[in-house]
Amino acid sequence: MTTSSRPDAIGRDLPRRDGPAKVRGTATYAFETPLENAAYLYPVQADIARGRVTELDTSAAEALDGVVAVLTPRTAERLASTEDRELAALQDDEVAFRGQVVAAVVADTSEVARHAAALVGVDYEQRPHDVELRADRDDLYAPERVNPDFPADTVEGDVEAAMAAAEVTVEETYTTAMYYNNPMEPHATAALWDPAGDGFLTLWDSTQGVHPTRATLATVFGLDEARVRVVCPYVGGGFGSKGQPHVNVVLAALAARAVPGRPVRLALTRQQMFCLAGYRTPTIQRCGLGADRAGRLTALSVDVVEQTSRIKEFAEQTGVPSRIMYASPNRRTTHRLAALDVPVPSWMRAPGECPGMFGPEVAMDELAVRLGMDPVELRVRNEPDVEPGSGKPFSSRNLVGCLREGAARFGWSRRDPRPGVRRRGAWLVGTGVAASTYPVHRMPQSTATIRREADRYVAEIGAADLGTGTWTTLPQIAADALGVPVSRVEVRIGDTDYPVASVAGGSSGMTTWGSAVVEAARAFRERYGTEPPDGAEASGSVGPPDDRWAMHAFGAQFAEAHVHTDTGEVRVPRLLGVFAAGRIINPRTARSQFVGGMTMGLSMALHETGVLDPRTGHVVNHDFAEYHIAANADVGEIEAHWLAEDDPHVNAMGSKGIGEIGIVGTAAAVSNAVWHACGVRVRDLPITLDKVLPALEQPFG
Ligand code: MOS
Repeated sequence: MTTSSRPDAIGRDLPRRDGPAKVRGTATYAFETPLENAAYLYPVQADIARGRVTELDTSAAEALDGVVAVLTPRTAERLASTEDRELAALQDDEVAFRGQVVAAVVADTSEVARHAAALVGVDYEQRPHDVELRADRDDLYAPERVNPDFPADTVEGDVEAAMAAAEVTVEETYTTAMYYNNPMEPHATAALWDPAGDGFLTLWDSTQGVHPTRATLATVFGLDEARVRVVCPYVGGGFGSKGQPHVNVVLAALAARAVPGRPVRLALTRQQMFCLAGYRTPTIQRCGLGADRAGRLTALSVDVVEQTSRIKEFAEQTGVPSRIMYASPNRRTTHRLAALDVPVPSWMRAPGECPGMFGPEVAMDELAVRLGMDPVELRVRNEPDVEPGSGKPFSSRNLVGCLREGAARFGWSRRDPRPGVRRRGAWLVGTGVAASTYPVHRMPQSTATIRREADRYVAEIGAADLGTGTWTTLPQIAADALGVPVSRVEVRIGDTDYPVASVAGGSSGMTTWGSAVVEAARAFRERYGTEPPDGAEASGSVGPPDDRWAMHAFGAQFAEAHVHTDTGEVRVPRLLGVFAAGRIINPRTARSQFVGGMTMGLSMALHETGVLDPRTGHVVNHDFAEYHIAANADVGEIEAHWLAEDDPHVNAMGSKGIGEIGIVGTAAAVSNAVWHACGVRVRDLPITLDKVLPALEQPFG
């Protein structure tokens, strides 16, 4: 037991260890890595959505003073693997989406590179493109699996028959928009190819996983992993878009190999990030709920239509959260994809759960209204005893506790259930609720080493800190496991020179890396006892999950919405979330994760949408001026609370992931609050004033 150390480690409200360096500007991000004689890379992008490059005129670019090289499909090195077509940069003349990279310029300065890129002449043979997602397309197909490895469809019982027999039903279509991850730090890489010996590639890359990035780049270039090093101490946000390397990393490495011995820097512009760095697919969700008069679900279905690119499949698991949320004897979830001439969609904060808890959680609100039942009560009434589908017991499930605690804190009991009856001046006021969930993921591979260095304990693991708090929380876990004060623990992360670590994705970081650190600490203590000599060292690796249990975090989100009676303007002055996510390692960094996720959910509810022009295949609002993200003035009071949850099954720390659950359910809570405020049910996001205004023309009461 290490109880005496606990007050000093896990659960303590410690400030971020990387905070001072970030505030002072001394924390180096990938693009700013100090390197001698660096050259700069700028991509040339296709301005057609589909076709073939017939002519590339690079003469004007090459003639420019300061241009070092122009990479084209003719001059760029052949990659060892082009299996991942998103990463097969400059390998052929085909254009699969607007904005795809067709050439790239390397120059002495970023300004010259950008100027030269504009001088590259490109002729195309254009072919008809198709970028429109619709549920009635005749080419929709069922993917083999949905992200990361779920069956595309699940069926239990007979939904159709149960819907026909149900006393009360809801059957509606809900849609979510195309969302962009938009971390503050753009996708950026500095690359250096050292030709000595067999050659060695170093990448300083803004990534959610140095080891996964190394593995991918080694495959693409046909290099032994030992000949690639990836370094990334700090990340200015990723939200999934840096979870797998995108083409920018391959381009930087290609350029470095074209100018051996000279480092090359590439930072995508904000506009380029809208084409090259992933995004969340739009979704069309047909949701069906059937219930008896007592509010017990008898049928539950979610049929999802979404898009992927023609060159690479990504199937968002939008129907998956509905597989575990509520009890119902008859249930169905399906996913159908349209492969379009669009950029490659990818992970974005809570892929699956985030869009997939919009339709169903609004549908639950609609069902509650039809039943004349409180929406909190309706959810409580449909709690499953075991995980639906698998039949496994939950390691812990405290959705009801979150709903009850949230209702009490939010003042839910004072709510008049009728819509459109509460006014404050020119504003209609309403409140809404929705549930959240996120699975406890554990990655299969991660190792940590713990070493005594003088009076300190040093833990090394190639983990990542995206701004999430890893620099601060891993020392807390190590200190707890070693039984030493946290001030004596130093953690080193973000470099493939440290032991292998999994991607910071699926909210799995603390579960996976933390488990490896605890194992390393156990081995260290077993070998050296409490008086380890200087240089004493031990390693440990994450073990497999205990798959007898269904493991998920849950939460409840409450929103207050104001709708202006004349303009239809929607404001959300108040959000309150209560989460049950196991043991909280550090309340300060945890609150930041919950509140950050909720803010992103608010932004999704009210503002964010990528507007694709079907004529050109172009996302026309591809910058921060036009793609609005909730800014300070859009965000009111946001409170995040959590229940003390003791879960002995999830991992040695008792923690569940918290990076993603905050964005789950928020948009549904806001939509439900907007309905309660003004009586308009907005089923397609974002909730803009044009969607509520027509109904406001017949004023209430
Ligand atoms: Mo997160 S979208 O799983 O990186």
